Amino acid sequence: MKLIEDLKWRYATKKFSNKRVEEGDLEKIIEAINLSASSVGIQPYRLVIIESPCLKKNLAEGSFNSQIAEASHLLVFAAFASIRKEDIDDYIGLMSETRDTPIEDLADFKNSISTYLLARTDSDNFIWSTKQAYIGLGTGLIAAADLKIDATPMEGFDAAKFDKLLGLEGKNLKSVVLLALGYRDEHNDGLAKLKKVRIPKQEFATMVN
Ligand SMILES: Cc1cc2nc3c(=O)[nH]c(=O)nc-3n(C[C@H](O)[C@H](O)[C@H](O)COP(=O)(O)O)c2cc1C
Repeated sequence: MKLIEDLKWRYATKKFSNKRVEEGDLEKIIEAINLSASSVGIQPYRLVIIESPCLKKNLAEGSFNSQIAEASHLLVFAAFASIRKEDIDDYIGLMSETRDTPIEDLADFKNSISTYLLARTDSDNFIWSTKQAYIGLGTGLIAAADLKIDATPMEGFDAAKFDKLLGLEGKNLKSVVLLALGYRDEHNDGLAKLKKVRIPKQEFATMVN
């Protein structure tokens, strides 16, 4: 299985070279993330992609993660701060259009997800949206590895600062996790040649019959 080899090849890159990720590859990674599963299918997060060296430098200031500035591209996963009635309307509208199904035929589905989502607090829905964003993060890591593009998932950043600089405030979005993309600087990244540290499979997974 090629995927296992890809996953053994990848590591959370600390030091990127200057090599740039090509547009076509970037598009594939974005498409893979967009194809990720999400609860009820509503995709309650958005991606912000940054290439500008100046903006990456500003975002990196004060963070221990130099990859924010040094990566070719920085993907910011921004989760919905709350789930609004209009978010559900948009999703149902898209489903109707995509599947050529009359809106009225989707009324039961819409009612059931509305009851479920709108009854919860904004804070609970933000946590739930964040979980969906992390599924996308996982897909992004795998897609990058498949293309032999290096990547670093990162939680070490100032989310409030990101939200401000990226203009997410007022858009019902909050940055929750990052994915830096680029190519490893093999000579200057001490982690590049180290073995992966993983607990044995038999300890990790238990088969119950
Ligand atoms: C959600 C998440 C957040 C992480 N945050 C950071 C981070 O801020 N900086 C960093 O260098 N690595 C970060 N990592 C990378 C982990 O340290 C790394 O995945 C872990 O040590 C396993 O190593 P491997 O990914 O190289 O196999 C993060 C990983 C995940 C999944």
